[in-house]
Amino acid sequence: MNTYDVAVIPGDGVGREVADEGLKILDAVADKFGFGVKTVNYDWGCNYYLKHGAMNPADMLVTLKDFDAIFLGCIGDAGKVPDHVSLSLLLEIRKGFDQYVNLRPIRLYPGIQTPVRTATSQSVDFVVVRENTEGEYSRVGGFFKSDTPDAFALQTGVFTRKGCSRVMDYAFQLARERKMLGVGQTVGRVTNCSKSNALNYSMVFWDKIFDQVSAGYPDVTTDTALVDAITMWFVKNPEHFDVIVASNLFGDIITDLGAMLQGGMGFAAGANLNPEKQFPSMFEPIHGSAPKYAGKGIANPVATIESVRMMLEHLGELHAAQAIEKAIAQVLSGGEIKTKDMGGTHSTEQMGEAILGTLMAGN
Ligand code: IPM
Ligand code: MG
Repeated sequence: MNTYDVAVIPGDGVGREVADEGLKILDAVADKFGFGVKTVNYDWGCNYYLKHGAMNPADMLVTLKDFDAIFLGCIGDAGKVPDHVSLSLLLEIRKGFDQYVNLRPIRLYPGIQTPVRTATSQSVDFVVVRENTEGEYSRVGGFFKSDTPDAFALQTGVFTRKGCSRVMDYAFQLARERKMLGVGQTVGRVTNCSKSNALNYSMVFWDKIFDQVSAGYPDVTTDTALVDAITMWFVKNPEHFDVIVASNLFGDIITDLGAMLQGGMGFAAGANLNPEKQFPSMFEPIHGSAPKYAGKGIANPVATIESVRMMLEHLGELHAAQAIEKAIAQVLSGGEIKTKDMGGTHSTEQMGEAILGTLMAGN
């Protein structure tokens, strides 16, 4: 029997509540599909910071490195720790474990309301492949002449040939795979998310590498769209997209818009992947920690359960992953269980239990 070691960092705000539902599902599918899961909890986050003066122990990466996967709830509570300090926990893991692909599927489950009129479960089925270790998030820069009238800040993006080409290769391989499986509305297309009209070094470099990488995939169609135009096209013609490859910051921005196409942040999941499996990958809902809702049991756990599904796919437990997908689809299309964000009154736990019950009853 395969047994997976999973490190769990529930984090801040609603993190604990949504993680609990995700972990119940994980345990249930392990039993049902005959594999083992051993979880270890780490209480790192803003409360840890208040006690220890740091978000996590200095040897966090050493502690985590031998796990098969990391499961993260959400991080941040600006009332306790400034966001640019607390979020270093997340960024340190992404970078430290070379999780260079941030994979964010944008799909609308049938039965879910979205504020975007063009979004239907047919028209919305694409994936954003976000670069996750460099670019605009390289944390290079500084404050200068602080507290003087001449004060300025510098923030430098770092784009390397290796960093750009490997994430683009991943996007092309994914598009090829989706084409083979016939997944999505548009098949076999990679859209390059750029801004080379204004960013005359970094994005010109990025575009050039995109052209070079794409030459290796003649079976995949390509197009390039500027990031500002992409936000427009997401709304106007979501069916145009299959796989989008984007830099760190652009990928961050367009996936929040993508979440609205999906019906809200409560449905948007993400995987931080080290595709070579040299290091553990990390799975998390992309929503924030919503401290004002913490402890109220009203957060939607679907994004978290979706992240568990992505974790199982990564670990190779495909039947378990499919069973989760089926159960989520069934509960959501049934339309009876709705959390607050969906206009209903069901709790985090009730949504989790409904998905769990459906999963256990299914075959
Ligand atoms: C995300 C988040 C993070 C990011 C923040 C919390 C640092 O917005 O995962 O999308 O910008 O990557
Ligand atoms: Mg974001």
